[in-house]
Amino acid sequence: MESSKQEAAQADNLLEGNRFIRACLRRPVDRTPVWFLRQAGRYMQEYRDVRKHHTLVEICKQPELAAEVTITAAEKLGVDAAIIFADLLLPLEPMGLPFEFQAGEGPVVHQPVRTAADVAALHTDRADELGYVSRAIQKVAAHFGDRLGIIGFCGAPYTLASYMIEGGGSRNYVFTKQMMYGDTASWRHLLDKIGTVLTEYCRQQIDGGADVIQIFDSWAGSLSVSDYRDYALDASTRLVRAVQAMGVPVIYFGVETTGMLSAMASTGADVIGLDWRQPLDEGWRAVGHTRAVQGNLDPITLFAPVDVLEKRVREILQAADGRPGHIFNLGHGIVPGTPVENVQAVVKMVHEYRP
Ligand code: CP3
Repeated sequence: MESSKQEAAQADNLLEGNRFIRACLRRPVDRTPVWFLRQAGRYMQEYRDVRKHHTLVEICKQPELAAEVTITAAEKLGVDAAIIFADLLLPLEPMGLPFEFQAGEGPVVHQPVRTAADVAALHTDRADELGYVSRAIQKVAAHFGDRLGIIGFCGAPYTLASYMIEGGGSRNYVFTKQMMYGDTASWRHLLDKIGTVLTEYCRQQIDGGADVIQIFDSWAGSLSVSDYRDYALDASTRLVRAVQAMGVPVIYFGVETTGMLSAMASTGADVIGLDWRQPLDEGWRAVGHTRAVQGNLDPITLFAPVDVLEKRVREILQAADGRPGHIFNLGHGIVPGTPVENVQAVVKMVHEYRP
Protein backbone atom coordinates (compact mmCIF):
# COMPACT_ATOMS: atom_id res chain seq x y z
CA MET A 1 0.00 0.00 0.00
CA GLU A 2 2.68 2.39 1.16
CA SER A 3 4.76 1.60 -1.92
CA SER A 4 1.90 2.11 -4.36
CA LYS A 5 1.26 5.49 -2.75
CA GLN A 6 4.93 6.28 -3.27
CA GLU A 7 4.69 5.19 -6.88
CA ALA A 8 1.69 7.41 -7.52
CA ALA A 9 3.48 10.38 -5.96
CA GLN A 10 6.48 9.67 -8.12
CA ALA A 11 4.42 9.43 -11.30
CA ASP A 12 2.85 12.82 -10.52
CA ASN A 13 6.28 14.34 -10.02
CA LEU A 14 7.42 13.01 -13.34
CA LEU A 15 4.50 14.55 -15.17
CA GLU A 16 5.50 18.00 -14.00
CA GLY A 17 9.01 16.63 -13.63
CA ASN A 18 12.24 18.10 -14.74
CA ARG A 19 13.61 17.46 -18.20
CA PHE A 20 16.48 15.30 -16.99
CA ILE A 21 14.24 12.70 -15.37
CA ARG A 22 11.81 12.87 -18.28
CA ALA A 23 14.65 12.14 -20.70
CA CYS A 24 15.77 9.14 -18.59
CA LEU A 25 12.27 7.76 -19.13
CA ARG A 26 12.28 8.68 -22.84
CA ARG A 27 9.49 11.19 -22.42
CA PRO A 28 9.45 14.27 -24.65
CA VAL A 29 11.35 17.30 -23.34
CA ASP A 30 11.37 21.02 -24.18
CA ARG A 31 15.14 20.88 -24.74
CA THR A 32 17.88 18.30 -24.35
CA PRO A 33 19.04 18.01 -20.73
CA VAL A 34 22.78 18.28 -20.06
CA TRP A 35 25.17 17.54 -17.20
CA PHE A 36 28.81 16.43 -17.05
CA LEU A 37 30.67 13.47 -15.64
CA ARG A 38 33.00 14.81 -12.91
CA GLN A 39 31.37 18.23 -13.08
CA ALA A 40 32.67 19.00 -9.57
CA GLY A 41 36.42 18.53 -9.75
CA ARG A 42 39.86 20.02 -9.90
CA TYR A 43 39.22 21.99 -13.12
CA MET A 44 36.99 24.30 -11.04
CA GLN A 45 38.55 26.98 -8.83
CA GLU A 46 35.81 26.70 -6.20
CA TYR A 47 36.58 22.99 -5.80
CA ARG A 48 40.33 23.60 -5.59
CA ASP A 49 39.66 26.15 -2.85
CA VAL A 50 37.76 23.58 -0.77
CA ARG A 51 40.49 21.00 -1.48
CA LYS A 52 43.15 23.34 -0.01
CA HIS A 53 41.65 22.66 3.40
CA HIS A 54 40.23 19.13 3.06
CA THR A 55 41.15 15.82 1.51
CA LEU A 56 38.83 14.22 -1.03
CA VAL A 57 37.57 11.71 1.53
CA GLU A 58 36.99 14.43 4.13
CA ILE A 59 34.78 16.28 1.68
CA CYS A 60 32.84 13.09 0.97
CA LYS A 61 32.33 12.36 4.67
CA GLN A 62 31.13 15.81 5.68
CA PRO A 63 27.62 16.19 4.25
CA GLU A 64 27.77 19.97 4.52
CA LEU A 65 30.92 20.12 2.38
CA ALA A 66 29.85 17.41 -0.07
CA ALA A 67 26.54 19.20 -0.61
CA GLU A 68 28.26 22.55 -1.06
CA VAL A 69 30.65 21.18 -3.68
CA THR A 70 27.78 19.45 -5.51
CA ILE A 71 25.56 22.54 -5.50
CA THR A 72 28.30 25.02 -6.43
CA ALA A 73 29.31 23.04 -9.52
CA ALA A 74 25.75 22.50 -10.75
CA GLU A 75 24.83 26.17 -10.29
CA LYS A 76 27.99 27.52 -11.83
CA LEU A 77 27.44 25.41 -14.96
CA GLY A 78 23.66 25.78 -15.21
CA VAL A 79 23.20 22.06 -15.83
CA ASP A 80 19.99 20.02 -15.55
CA ALA A 81 21.27 17.51 -13.00
CA ALA A 82 23.54 17.40 -9.97
CA ILE A 83 25.55 14.28 -9.20
CA ILE A 84 26.29 13.87 -5.51
CA PHE A 85 29.90 14.48 -4.62
CA ALA A 86 31.22 11.13 -3.39
CA ASP A 87 33.62 8.49 -4.71
CA LEU A 88 33.25 5.08 -6.22
CA LEU A 89 35.49 3.51 -3.59
CA LEU A 90 33.68 4.63 -0.43
CA PRO A 91 31.86 1.27 0.02
CA LEU A 92 35.21 -0.53 0.32
CA GLU A 93 35.78 0.85 3.79
CA PRO A 94 32.66 -0.60 5.51
CA MET A 95 33.41 -3.90 3.75
CA GLY A 96 36.71 -3.97 5.65
CA LEU A 97 39.09 -2.62 3.02
CA PRO A 98 40.62 0.72 3.95
CA PHE A 99 42.02 2.76 1.06
CA GLU A 100 43.56 6.12 0.49
CA PHE A 101 44.10 8.51 -2.38
CA GLN A 102 47.81 9.08 -2.84
CA ALA A 103 48.74 12.36 -4.47
CA GLY A 104 48.89 11.95 -8.23
CA GLU A 105 48.56 8.16 -7.93
CA GLY A 106 44.87 7.57 -7.60
CA PRO A 107 43.38 5.18 -5.06
CA VAL A 108 45.41 2.56 -3.18
CA VAL A 109 43.81 -0.35 -1.33
CA HIS A 110 46.35 -1.55 1.21
CA GLN A 111 45.27 -5.19 1.50
CA PRO A 112 43.89 -6.31 -1.84
CA VAL A 113 41.47 -9.22 -2.03
CA ARG A 114 43.23 -12.21 -3.61
CA THR A 115 41.96 -15.41 -1.99
CA ALA A 116 38.75 -17.17 -0.99
CA ALA A 117 39.56 -16.33 2.64
CA ASP A 118 39.95 -12.64 1.75
CA VAL A 119 36.51 -12.70 0.13
CA ALA A 120 34.99 -14.54 3.09
CA ALA A 121 36.36 -11.89 5.49
CA LEU A 122 34.54 -9.00 3.78
CA HIS A 123 31.61 -7.48 5.69
CA THR A 124 28.23 -6.91 4.09
CA ASP A 125 26.27 -5.63 7.10
CA ARG A 126 27.82 -2.21 7.63
CA ALA A 127 26.40 -0.17 4.76
CA ASP A 128 24.86 2.21 7.30
CA GLU A 129 28.39 3.57 7.82
CA LEU A 130 27.92 5.19 4.39
CA GLY A 131 25.03 7.28 5.73
CA TYR A 132 27.03 10.48 5.22
CA VAL A 133 26.34 10.19 1.47
CA SER A 134 22.57 10.09 1.87
CA ARG A 135 22.76 12.95 4.37
CA ALA A 136 24.60 15.00 1.74
CA ILE A 137 21.93 14.08 -0.81
CA GLN A 138 19.23 15.31 1.59
CA LYS A 139 20.92 18.69 1.72
CA VAL A 140 21.25 18.89 -2.07
CA ALA A 141 17.62 17.83 -2.50
CA ALA A 142 16.48 20.44 0.04
CA HIS A 143 18.40 23.08 -1.89
CA PHE A 144 17.22 22.26 -5.41
CA GLY A 145 13.74 20.85 -4.81
CA ASP A 146 12.42 19.72 -8.20
CA ARG A 147 14.49 22.22 -10.17
CA LEU A 148 17.28 19.78 -10.99
CA GLY A 149 17.57 16.04 -11.19
CA ILE A 150 19.61 14.63 -8.32
CA ILE A 151 21.84 11.72 -9.20
CA GLY A 152 23.10 9.22 -6.66
CA PHE A 153 25.71 6.73 -7.79
CA CYS A 154 27.78 3.67 -7.09
CA GLY A 155 30.28 1.50 -8.92
CA ALA A 156 29.17 -1.66 -10.68
CA PRO A 157 30.20 -4.92 -9.01
CA TYR A 158 32.80 -5.74 -11.68
CA THR A 159 34.48 -2.34 -11.54
CA LEU A 160 34.55 -2.26 -7.74
CA ALA A 161 35.83 -5.83 -7.59
CA SER A 162 38.68 -4.84 -9.90
CA TYR A 163 39.78 -2.11 -7.46
CA MET A 164 39.53 -4.50 -4.53
CA ILE A 165 41.57 -7.22 -6.23
CA GLU A 166 44.17 -5.07 -8.00
CA GLY A 167 44.55 -2.75 -5.02
CA GLY A 168 44.09 0.31 -7.23
CA GLY A 169 43.80 1.24 -10.87
CA SER A 170 45.15 -1.29 -13.35
CA ARG A 171 46.36 -1.60 -16.88
CA ASN A 172 45.81 -5.30 -17.57
CA TYR A 173 43.59 -6.54 -14.71
CA VAL A 174 45.70 -9.67 -14.34
CA PHE A 175 44.79 -10.42 -10.70
CA THR A 176 41.13 -9.69 -11.35
CA LYS A 177 40.93 -11.98 -14.35
CA GLN A 178 42.95 -14.65 -12.58
CA MET A 179 40.35 -14.88 -9.84
CA MET A 180 37.52 -14.59 -12.36
CA TYR A 181 38.76 -17.51 -14.49
CA GLY A 182 40.67 -19.56 -11.91
CA ASP A 183 38.53 -19.32 -8.79
CA THR A 184 35.12 -18.53 -10.20
CA ALA A 185 33.35 -19.52 -6.99
CA SER A 186 35.24 -16.85 -5.01
CA TRP A 187 34.71 -14.39 -7.85
CA ARG A 188 30.94 -14.89 -7.74
CA HIS A 189 30.95 -14.75 -3.96
CA LEU A 190 32.81 -11.43 -4.12
CA LEU A 191 30.38 -9.93 -6.65
CA ASP A 192 27.45 -11.11 -4.54
CA LYS A 193 28.86 -9.46 -1.45
CA ILE A 194 29.53 -6.21 -3.28
CA GLY A 195 26.00 -6.33 -4.72
CA THR A 196 24.50 -6.73 -1.26
CA VAL A 197 26.29 -3.64 0.06
CA LEU A 198 25.58 -1.56 -3.06
CA THR A 199 21.88 -2.39 -3.02
CA GLU A 200 21.63 -1.10 0.54
CA TYR A 201 23.79 1.94 -0.30
CA CYS A 202 21.53 2.83 -3.24
CA ARG A 203 18.47 2.42 -1.04
CA GLN A 204 19.91 4.98 1.38
CA GLN A 205 20.66 7.40 -1.45
CA ILE A 206 17.14 7.09 -2.85
CA ASP A 207 15.66 7.57 0.62
CA GLY A 208 17.85 10.68 0.90
CA GLY A 209 16.28 12.10 -2.28
CA ALA A 210 18.21 10.77 -5.28
CA ASP A 211 15.95 10.84 -8.36
CA VAL A 212 18.16 8.59 -10.46
CA ILE A 213 21.05 6.22 -9.75
CA GLN A 214 24.03 6.04 -12.06
CA ILE A 215 26.00 2.79 -11.91
CA PHE A 216 29.60 3.28 -13.06
CA ASP A 217 30.98 0.16 -14.71
CA SER A 218 33.89 2.31 -15.75
CA TRP A 219 36.26 -0.55 -16.50
CA ALA A 220 33.78 -2.98 -18.11
CA GLY A 221 35.60 -2.24 -21.37
CA SER A 222 38.58 -4.22 -20.07
CA LEU A 223 36.51 -7.38 -20.63
CA SER A 224 35.78 -9.20 -23.87
CA VAL A 225 32.07 -9.38 -24.59
CA SER A 226 32.12 -13.10 -23.73
CA ASP A 227 33.80 -12.48 -20.38
CA TYR A 228 31.45 -9.60 -19.65
CA ARG A 229 28.50 -11.91 -20.31
CA ASP A 230 29.93 -14.84 -18.35
CA TYR A 231 31.44 -13.03 -15.36
CA ALA A 232 30.01 -9.51 -14.89
CA LEU A 233 26.61 -9.10 -16.52
CA ASP A 234 24.57 -11.07 -14.01
CA ALA A 235 25.81 -9.07 -10.99
CA SER A 236 25.16 -5.78 -12.80
CA THR A 237 21.73 -6.92 -13.90
CA ARG A 238 20.71 -7.84 -10.37
CA LEU A 239 21.84 -4.45 -9.08
CA VAL A 240 20.05 -2.58 -11.87
CA ARG A 241 16.81 -4.47 -11.21
CA ALA A 242 17.07 -4.02 -7.43
CA VAL A 243 17.46 -0.25 -7.81
CA GLN A 244 14.63 0.00 -10.35
CA ALA A 245 12.41 -1.90 -7.91
CA MET A 246 13.00 1.00 -5.49
CA GLY A 247 11.23 3.23 -8.02
CA VAL A 248 13.99 5.20 -9.76
CA PRO A 249 15.56 5.01 -13.23
CA VAL A 250 19.10 3.68 -13.63
CA ILE A 251 21.90 5.01 -15.85
CA TYR A 252 24.52 2.36 -16.60
CA PHE A 253 27.84 3.70 -17.83
CA GLY A 254 31.14 2.26 -19.04
CA VAL A 255 34.16 3.32 -21.09
CA GLU A 256 35.51 1.64 -24.23
CA THR A 257 32.32 -0.35 -24.49
CA THR A 258 31.89 -0.29 -28.28
CA GLY A 259 30.86 -3.85 -29.14
CA MET A 260 29.34 -4.55 -25.73
CA LEU A 261 26.50 -2.03 -25.72
CA SER A 262 23.74 -4.50 -26.48
CA ALA A 263 25.00 -6.74 -23.67
CA MET A 264 25.03 -3.74 -21.32
CA ALA A 265 21.49 -2.83 -22.41
CA SER A 266 20.38 -6.34 -21.51
CA THR A 267 20.84 -5.40 -17.83
CA GLY A 268 17.55 -3.56 -18.30
CA ALA A 269 19.03 -0.16 -17.36
CA ASP A 270 16.85 2.77 -18.42
CA VAL A 271 19.78 4.76 -19.81
CA ILE A 272 23.10 3.58 -21.23
CA GLY A 273 26.10 5.91 -20.99
CA LEU A 274 28.14 6.07 -24.21
CA ASP A 275 31.79 7.01 -24.48
CA TRP A 276 32.99 9.11 -27.43
CA ARG A 277 34.62 6.43 -29.52
CA GLN A 278 31.67 5.86 -31.81
CA PRO A 279 29.05 8.28 -33.17
CA LEU A 280 26.07 8.62 -30.86
CA ASP A 281 23.58 7.31 -33.44
CA GLU A 282 25.61 4.12 -33.93
CA GLY A 283 25.87 3.63 -30.19
CA TRP A 284 22.16 4.22 -29.74
CA ARG A 285 21.34 1.73 -32.49
CA ALA A 286 23.50 -0.88 -30.71
CA VAL A 287 21.80 -0.12 -27.39
CA GLY A 288 18.38 -0.22 -29.05
CA HIS A 289 15.91 2.67 -29.24
CA THR A 290 13.87 1.22 -26.39
CA ARG A 291 16.50 2.71 -24.04
CA ALA A 292 17.68 6.24 -23.44
CA VAL A 293 21.33 7.16 -23.96
CA GLN A 294 23.69 9.61 -22.31
CA GLY A 295 26.77 11.11 -23.94
CA ASN A 296 29.05 11.38 -25.69
CA LEU A 297 31.44 14.29 -26.27
CA ASP A 298 35.16 13.56 -25.90
CA PRO A 299 36.07 15.45 -22.69
CA ILE A 300 39.27 16.70 -24.32
CA THR A 301 37.23 18.52 -26.99
CA LEU A 302 36.57 21.00 -24.16
CA PHE A 303 40.13 22.23 -24.78
CA ALA A 304 39.35 23.02 -28.46
CA PRO A 305 38.58 26.45 -29.96
CA VAL A 306 34.93 27.22 -29.49
CA ASP A 307 34.00 26.78 -33.19
CA VAL A 308 35.41 23.24 -33.17
CA LEU A 309 33.66 22.52 -29.89
CA GLU A 310 30.37 23.78 -31.30
CA LYS A 311 30.72 21.59 -34.39
CA ARG A 312 31.18 18.47 -32.26
CA VAL A 313 28.33 19.36 -29.92
CA ARG A 314 25.97 19.90 -32.86
CA GLU A 315 27.00 16.60 -34.43
CA ILE A 316 25.98 14.78 -31.27
CA LEU A 317 22.66 16.60 -31.04
CA GLN A 318 22.00 15.93 -34.72
CA ALA A 319 22.85 12.26 -34.26
CA ALA A 320 20.21 12.10 -31.51
CA ASP A 321 17.80 13.31 -34.18
CA GLY A 322 15.22 14.72 -31.76
CA ARG A 323 14.39 11.24 -30.48
CA PRO A 324 13.17 11.35 -26.86
CA GLY A 325 15.70 9.90 -24.43
CA HIS A 326 18.96 11.70 -25.10
CA ILE A 327 20.86 13.24 -22.19
CA PHE A 328 23.84 15.29 -23.33
CA ASN A 329 27.05 14.50 -21.45
CA LEU A 330 30.69 13.72 -22.02
CA GLY A 331 31.98 10.27 -22.86
CA HIS A 332 34.02 10.32 -19.64
CA GLY A 333 34.89 12.76 -16.86
CA ILE A 334 36.11 16.35 -17.15
CA VAL A 335 39.89 16.42 -16.66
CA PRO A 336 41.96 18.93 -14.64
CA GLY A 337 42.85 22.05 -16.61
CA THR A 338 39.61 22.13 -18.62
CA PRO A 339 38.50 25.74 -19.17
CA VAL A 340 35.30 26.24 -17.17
CA GLU A 341 34.00 28.76 -19.71
CA ASN A 342 34.04 26.06 -22.39
CA VAL A 343 31.97 23.77 -20.19
CA GLN A 344 29.51 26.61 -19.66
CA ALA A 345 29.51 27.27 -23.41
CA VAL A 346 28.47 23.66 -24.07
CA VAL A 347 25.52 24.03 -21.69
CA LYS A 348 24.44 27.10 -23.65
CA MET A 349 24.87 25.33 -27.01
CA VAL A 350 22.80 22.36 -25.88
CA HIS A 351 20.08 24.52 -24.37
CA GLU A 352 19.84 26.76 -27.42
CA TYR A 353 19.89 23.94 -29.94
CA ARG A 354 16.72 23.42 -31.94
CA PRO A 355 16.60 20.54 -34.41
O1 CP3 B 1 31.08 15.62 -10.17
C1 CP3 B 1 31.53 14.48 -9.96
O2 CP3 B 1 31.48 13.60 -10.84
C2 CP3 B 1 32.18 14.22 -8.64
C3 CP3 B 1 31.84 12.97 -7.92
C4 CP3 B 1 32.72 11.79 -8.27
C5 CP3 B 1 34.05 11.59 -7.82
N1 CP3 B 1 34.43 10.33 -8.19
C6 CP3 B 1 34.90 12.52 -7.04
C7 CP3 B 1 36.35 12.47 -7.29
C8 CP3 B 1 32.34 10.66 -8.99
C9 CP3 B 1 31.04 10.43 -9.73
C10 CP3 B 1 33.43 9.75 -8.90
C11 CP3 B 1 33.37 8.39 -9.49
C12 CP3 B 1 34.60 7.63 -9.61
N2 CP3 B 1 35.64 7.55 -8.73
C13 CP3 B 1 34.87 6.74 -10.66
C14 CP3 B 1 33.92 6.42 -11.77
C15 CP3 B 1 33.89 7.47 -12.77
C16 CP3 B 1 34.89 7.31 -13.84
O3 CP3 B 1 35.79 8.14 -13.91
O4 CP3 B 1 34.73 6.36 -14.62
C17 CP3 B 1 36.10 6.15 -10.43
C18 CP3 B 1 36.81 5.18 -11.32
C19 CP3 B 1 36.59 6.68 -9.21
C20 CP3 B 1 37.84 6.32 -8.51
C21 CP3 B 1 38.75 7.47 -8.47
N3 CP3 B 1 38.53 8.62 -7.73
C22 CP3 B 1 39.98 7.62 -9.14
C23 CP3 B 1 40.57 6.60 -10.09
C24 CP3 B 1 40.49 8.85 -8.75
C25 CP3 B 1 41.86 9.38 -9.07
C26 CP3 B 1 41.97 9.89 -10.46
C27 CP3 B 1 41.83 11.38 -10.45
O5 CP3 B 1 41.07 11.91 -11.23
O6 CP3 B 1 42.55 11.99 -9.63
C28 CP3 B 1 39.55 9.49 -7.92
C29 CP3 B 1 39.68 10.83 -7.30
C30 CP3 B 1 38.47 11.72 -7.41
N4 CP3 B 1 37.18 11.39 -7.11
C31 CP3 B 1 38.49 13.09 -7.78
C32 CP3 B 1 37.17 13.55 -7.70
C33 CP3 B 1 36.66 14.95 -8.00
C34 CP3 B 1 39.74 13.84 -8.18
C35 CP3 B 1 39.92 15.12 -7.46
C36 CP3 B 1 40.58 15.11 -6.13
O7 CP3 B 1 41.53 14.34 -5.88
O8 CP3 B 1 40.15 15.98 -5.36
